[in-house]
Amino acid sequence: MNEFDLLVVGSANADLVVGVERRPAAGETVLGSDLAVHPGGKGGNQAVAAARLGARTALLARVGDDAHGVLLLDAQRAAGVDTVGVLVGGAPTGVALITVDPSGDNSIVVSPGANARLTPEDIRAAGSLLAAARVVSTQLEIPLDTVAELVRGLRPESRLVLNPSPPAPLPAEVLAACDPLVVNEHEARVILGTDAGDAPEEWARGLLALGPRSVVITLGAEGALTADGTAGSFVRVPSPRVDAVDTTGAGDAFTAALAWRLGLGEDLATAAAYAVRVGAAAVTRKGAQDSYPTADELAPAAAPEVPSP
Ligand code: RIB
Repeated sequence: MNEFDLLVVGSANADLVVGVERRPAAGETVLGSDLAVHPGGKGGNQAVAAARLGARTALLARVGDDAHGVLLLDAQRAAGVDTVGVLVGGAPTGVALITVDPSGDNSIVVSPGANARLTPEDIRAAGSLLAAARVVSTQLEIPLDTVAELVRGLRPESRLVLNPSPPAPLPAEVLAACDPLVVNEHEARVILGTDAGDAPEEWARGLLALGPRSVVITLGAEGALTADGTAGSFVRVPSPRVDAVDTTGAGDAFTAALAWRLGLGEDLATAAAYAVRVGAAAVTRKGAQDSYPTADELAPAAAPEVPSP
């Protein structure tokens, strides 16, 4: 088995995307653009983002035995992702219904399909893949039992990166393995509940108290906040300024870049400083995987900010 910088364990979806002037409210119908079909899914997106940057990447996922599954596998292979761990069949390929408004913001409904059939048994059967990876990155568009089995199957020297999206209550054993837990504001507020507070530093402190070794909070155009639980250091990482066209999948690109750079030995803030450049590049083009940059396409790093207490 080859060595991998990054193993992504997660979802693969066909993204059915419609541009709209305004995302519809409850009970409302709006007209939109022609339908575009893109390869997506938080797991598939992370794998393509990392591979495009130059990481040796593998994906463990499940797609259906259908045309969407072929589209997704082709996209992974074209990006250079090792797909030996992509299982086929059991249910239709996952689908995401996405509306994007002129500001680049989106709303997404996911029909998990085959993603919901990626089982703990599938994780146990992929032991050699897990053993070959420095860093393992996962999300919550696959069953939580499967994520918990992944945590149990990790080598002690492997690092786990978890983006709990869509957010759900997490078992203590999963939280304790995260290094880091990567969340946006919405995910932080759902996990922390009504006592979340208003400042990212408060969210980071609250999340660290739940058990992860480190936390990264993505802040959109404002960059990210890193919180290293072991070192006790909080660092604000600014993002380059860009004109956002479509934010779909930008968080996945950020997390993939972060995970890869951590596996190369960078500290949390340095890896996040690289990852915000990747996320910023991803919002300047339409789609998720179609928008991801190569390393050569990244904007220079923004000036660092003074660490916050
Ligand atoms: O994070 C963006 C992704 O979320 C989309 O590609 C869609 O498939 C959903 O999983």
